[in-house]
Amino acid sequence: MTYPYASAQAQPALAVTPPSGAARPRLTFLGTGYLGATYAICFAELGYEVLGVDVDEPKISKLQAGAVPFHEPGLDELLRRNIAAGRLRFTTDYREAAEFGDVHFICVGTPQRADGMGADLGYVESSVISLVPHLTRKALIVGKSTVPVGTAEWIEQLVSKHAPADLGIEVAWSPEFLQEGHALEDVLRPNRLILGVKSQWAHDMLMTAHKGVFDLAHNEDREVPVVVTDFATAELVKVAANAFLATKISFINAMAEVCDAAGADVTQLAKSIGYDARIGNKFLRAGIGFGGGCLPKDIRAFQARAQELGAGEALRFLHEVDLINQRSRGRVVQIASELLARPYGPAGPDFSGLHIAVLGATFKPNSDDVRDSPALAITRSLARHGAQISIFDPQGMENAKRELPDMTYAPSLNDAVTGADLVCVLTEWEEFRYADPNALGDLVAAKLVIDGRNCLDQALWTAAGWTVRGLGRPSA
Ligand code: UDX
Repeated sequence: MTYPYASAQAQPALAVTPPSGAARPRLTFLGTGYLGATYAICFAELGYEVLGVDVDEPKISKLQAGAVPFHEPGLDELLRRNIAAGRLRFTTDYREAAEFGDVHFICVGTPQRADGMGADLGYVESSVISLVPHLTRKALIVGKSTVPVGTAEWIEQLVSKHAPADLGIEVAWSPEFLQEGHALEDVLRPNRLILGVKSQWAHDMLMTAHKGVFDLAHNEDREVPVVVTDFATAELVKVAANAFLATKISFINAMAEVCDAAGADVTQLAKSIGYDARIGNKFLRAGIGFGGGCLPKDIRAFQARAQELGAGEALRFLHEVDLINQRSRGRVVQIASELLARPYGPAGPDFSGLHIAVLGATFKPNSDDVRDSPALAITRSLARHGAQISIFDPQGMENAKRELPDMTYAPSLNDAVTGADLVCVLTEWEEFRYADPNALGDLVAAKLVIDGRNCLDQALWTAAGWTVRGLGRPSA
């Protein structure tokens, strides 16, 4: 059998024999949300026999029928191909998962707790407790979800409490770093693998479970760096990486505030400092800040955990990172009040009688994810101040409607801007970035645009008669 990502070369003997006796370890992915479904599909593509497991019956039926329940470029095709090839199945039955798998990856969500900033480990706990009593042979349980440091040790305790004795079940930690919209590449061609292990067997089994990743890299003349480390470090790598990325974004957004005050241009500033390789030019796009299911909750959970460990002081700056991020969202309402000449009263500006077109609902382009989306937070705020909103997003409309059912959703970009007194670009979809400002100018009531992602060609829009306001840029 041939498949695009598998090694064309003869397979060397495996370092360890999977407990099931299969030629390659059989993999289960517990939780088929964004993380688990993407991993399950990509590892089937790499040639493994894979079982995706979830308690959500409709989600499993959808996946089994070949439909990805979220938008991720390229994933639908891989799902259908691997189901057809017989390598990929989905189930709600943990007993079946226990019978099938050699390596079980925990991929369930770890949302922010309802009663605080820490992570809710309820789904992690229930996935482990649902699986391990059914195990009948040795297996490796590998954490992938983003968790507070110490979780892997706690899972070991859960395993020893709930698994049949003497099977030698082991635990390992291997965090993921996938970015929505880029997830296939991130899974198939990771820029590093972190293996938190306690034994040679766990190490060898985890390496064997990633052999497809190494083979693909080998075929493409690439290397995948591997860091073998302890549980705590492996867990911390993930949250530290996300904290750093969030800090980078808030740093440039803080610079945007200073640029606004000084009449400077943050896009030029970012470009200029980014040429220094020590700084780098990635994640320096100033705008309305970070959102999504990861960065906001992860920096809060990291602070909460550090506090519990007595190291809260060390992460106090992350509180500031969060505040800068919240302030960035607030800038759009401030700029709108200036552009629309509706000054701040005690309850903020009064936008009643005005029609504002919102372009973008998702937290970033090429995704349908609206979790903690800056675009929706700003939309909510504009509406609260009395504006009549019409919103359009190429992929996020269904999810946005669930979050904000009372808004008017336009079927197209043109419909959204027709008659608008102000246009706000809040997600940098290509459709918005490369829209024709002349054509849009004929549809609006006033040629005023707030570029919340600093993604428009200001010169082009200005030439078409628009007043353009970015964040941290002189008005054009
Ligand atoms: C992030 C991490 O990048 C990824 O490694 C981790 O596994 C999960 O969390 P993701 O949530 O998909 O991935 O989004 P990311 O691309 O990091 O963007 C996060 C937010 O930051 C988005 O709202 C984006 O618009 C914003 N952002 C990003 C900026 O505002 N400026 C930038 O320069 C970069």
